[in-house]
Amino acid sequence: MTFDVKLIRRIRKEFPAAEVDPSGRKRAFLDNGAGTLVTRRSSEAEARARVDWSANVGNYFPESKGASDVILEGRKAVADLLRADGPETIVSGESCTSLLFSLSYALSRDFKGDENIVLTGYEHFANINPWAELGGMDLIKEVRFANFHLESGLLDMEHMKSLIDKNTKVVAVTAASNVLGTRSDLVEIGKMAKEAGALFVVDGVHHVAHGPTDVKKLGCDAYVFSGYKLFSRHGSYMYMKPEHIENLNPYKVDPSPKHGPEKWELGTRDQAMFAAIKGAIDYLVWLGDPSSKDVAKPGPQRSGKLKQTMEKIEAYEKDLSRIVLDGYGKILGLRYVPGLTLYGPRDVNVKMGRDPTFAFKLEGLDDHEVSKALWDDYALAVGAEDYYSRVPAQYKTKTMLRATFVHYNTREEVLAFLKALNEIATKKKK
Ligand SMILES: Cc1ncc(COP(=O)(O)O)c(C=O)c1O
Repeated sequence: MTFDVKLIRRIRKEFPAAEVDPSGRKRAFLDNGAGTLVTRRSSEAEARARVDWSANVGNYFPESKGASDVILEGRKAVADLLRADGPETIVSGESCTSLLFSLSYALSRDFKGDENIVLTGYEHFANINPWAELGGMDLIKEVRFANFHLESGLLDMEHMKSLIDKNTKVVAVTAASNVLGTRSDLVEIGKMAKEAGALFVVDGVHHVAHGPTDVKKLGCDAYVFSGYKLFSRHGSYMYMKPEHIENLNPYKVDPSPKHGPEKWELGTRDQAMFAAIKGAIDYLVWLGDPSSKDVAKPGPQRSGKLKQTMEKIEAYEKDLSRIVLDGYGKILGLRYVPGLTLYGPRDVNVKMGRDPTFAFKLEGLDDHEVSKALWDDYALAVGAEDYYSRVPAQYKTKTMLRATFVHYNTREEVLAFLKALNEIATKKKK
């Protein structure tokens, strides 16, 4: 394991709700795919900014200057996390859904009606409807979905390639499926998009907490993620190449700024949201080197530390995922639990690796029944839903159970989860 027991203990101290829920019940939180727990550094920073810098930006008194500073520092931290050029490339919004709607609207102003947009078959609807709406208004010809293999959960790259042609204006893909845990080969897909002269948009909402992100290496035109999936509160961020920030025309009111990220932001900003995401990113910087007292300088130094942290997280989560899939000692992993159907990659060593997100069903049992039993009898928070994803329907089902692990989850929690499923499955058989 890349995180030793002592470090895991320290990590869990950083999350006030890691051990117990608000009623005081000791439990394991495995619904991280729906939103992670919040690090205290994020909530404390948010509370401070809420009180100290409550004024609106643009004036001379300290509260107003402080608000501007908090917003700028938040943008800088996000830019370092994504390895983007600078704060001027980071747009904020209420949610990724709203940011993608803004983007699709701004792009559609130049469309003529014969264009197509290519997505994967495992997108969240946040990255479907913003594009499909354009079809509904005859602003594009169609949205095309690249198949994924139902058995392995992996994207059919040949099919993806075959869908992209000279009329493809946007290739928009999720970095990882929020149901299957499948990671998209973003570098290859990005190349396909560029060769066709299409824009390359990445939905990083599910993946951002699980590994390093480098928007420049990906060569993407836009990349979105949300704070509540990264140990912070709601509120979302979109990296955009500077030329798109400047040249596209999003919804805006006349007096709002005509340049820079503010041009894309509707109404006034909530400065506490920026303080909160910076708090979460400060936590990740700390995690890269917990013994160091040095404060990382914004820019390449902090960006480098964040990369190290995210690589460590990825390695630790891979260890957890291996146990989830293969089991440990006498405890069977998901691949072997009798009557359990597992969706998505069954091997942590697939080409792109996989996110620690596991969707499954237990034969003969209703998903909600299982979710309730996991909570009532085992204190395990595991969801049963459609996850706003196209995936369940493709397996001809409405819902699935889903457990998503993050780096504050422990091996003990993984084993408790597997033990519970083994017991539920065995009881069902009797
Ligand atoms: C892959 C993915 N994209 C987009 C979203 C929606 O994000 P938001 O709630 O910020 O609109 C989610 C939420 O679960 C998601 O998992």
